[in-house]
Amino acid sequence: MATALDLGILRDQFPALNQEVRGRPLIYLDNAATTQKPWAVLREMQRYYQHDNANVHRGVHKLSQRATESFDAARVKLQKFVGAEHSHEIIFTKGCTEAINLVAHSWGLANLKPGDEILLSGMEHHADIVPWQLVAERTGATVRPIPILPSGELDLEAYGQMLSEKTRLVGCVHASNALGTINPVQKMAEMAHAVGALFLADGAQMLAHGRVDVRELGVDFYAMSAHKMYGPTGVGALYGRAELLEAMPPFQGGGDMIRTVSWDGTTFAGLPNKFEPGTPNIAGVIGWGAALDWLGGFDPEAIHAHEMELLRVATATVEQIPGARVVGTAEKVAVVSFVMEQAHPHDIGTMLDQQAIAIRTGHHCCMPLMKSLGVPATARASFALYNEVSEAEALGPALLRVAETFG
Ligand code: ALA
Repeated sequence: MATALDLGILRDQFPALNQEVRGRPLIYLDNAATTQKPWAVLREMQRYYQHDNANVHRGVHKLSQRATESFDAARVKLQKFVGAEHSHEIIFTKGCTEAINLVAHSWGLANLKPGDEILLSGMEHHADIVPWQLVAERTGATVRPIPILPSGELDLEAYGQMLSEKTRLVGCVHASNALGTINPVQKMAEMAHAVGALFLADGAQMLAHGRVDVRELGVDFYAMSAHKMYGPTGVGALYGRAELLEAMPPFQGGGDMIRTVSWDGTTFAGLPNKFEPGTPNIAGVIGWGAALDWLGGFDPEAIHAHEMELLRVATATVEQIPGARVVGTAEKVAVVSFVMEQAHPHDIGTMLDQQAIAIRTGHHCCMPLMKSLGVPATARASFALYNEVSEAEALGPALLRVAETFG
């Protein structure tokens, strides 16, 4: 039985939520773009800079040892959070985008050849389209989109028909940033493996909302972002199965990723260092570790129950506005993407901002998805565990005002 979240106590932990915008209390519904950060994360990052600031894996001195300890501990926390077998299967990057680029450029350039196919879901973020297009241009491989249904779900029958011995890798968002759709990643990975292809899931929008176990999902790669799960910006990670990462060449070169360097050539370090050249985002990684501890302190069932209530209320609220339509009705995380007959999404966003409600509008870095849904853009309200039901309800009067102004 899930223990209900105490929103009063919870919201007090987020200083940014406690402010007024244009003379009204802020209603922050742009959590798919980035979540706010709890004191636990802010304080831990400040603690690192104030007391332990030193480079990692380099110094014999005390500060460097302390920084290294916290940095390495964060890797283990993330390993446990996503159920990876080994901590060296977690590679820190500067974000989810860099994690996908790592796979595309390291694995892709080394393994793809003309005639090979990369299948990507029709609801991919540009971060999981453009790297593959760049690599396809250089290798002669082809990128093919898996069609989506009007409900915002992937067409799994079409996916099954597209898979063949030519398929080398399938890429798919675990949860869509634009629609919220949760994709059946476990089943899709099984189907990919049956034809000998690898499976990469983009978990940026999933990790804050549901339990993720990379081994249970059976994915080969899982890309992650700290700032979508109450951690800092500028840091992400790639989970990759050890045997795959071991066989992949380095993505970027630099310090700390080598064993020996001479003018005749370089030998590389083992995992995870091989993929982490240069000084990493130490404060970011340590802050992410604090976010994992903080988030791990809640009952995942309670988070899920609360967010599903927010989704239900927000959906019903939007649907009752004349001229408004929710885009995407599949099983999803708490994201409500919608359009209105009376107003362009940018006008909706601007008017909501005047009423202190922050949402995102536009194509959400998913232009091909917008095209297949037949909309140029949507307005998107996206929720986090600290949002209150009254904030979802506040969309009602605010959108009525939009309808009246533009209607
Ligand atoms: N990908 C982020 C979003 O959906 C930035 O808003």
